[in-house]
Amino acid sequence: MYVCICRQITDHQIRDVCRGGASSLTDVRTKLGVASECGKCGKLAQTIVNEYNKAAIFVNAAC
Ligand code: FES
Repeated sequence: MYVCICRQITDHQIRDVCRGGASSLTDVRTKLGVASECGKCGKLAQTIVNEYNKAAIFVNAAC
């Protein structure tokens, strides 16, 4: 689904960037430009980053 309408950025793109090493909204903003125009997508983008980080911690703990 589209998270950022201004930049046409999807949740999949945000997760891909997280998978590539981004661990904060600032990292994702730098790489994709999310939340860099109107800013309305920032909260949802932050939620996706947080969920990715929590899942990554769980997976790493299970290994
Ligand atoms: S919806 Fe993302 S910057 Fe406007």
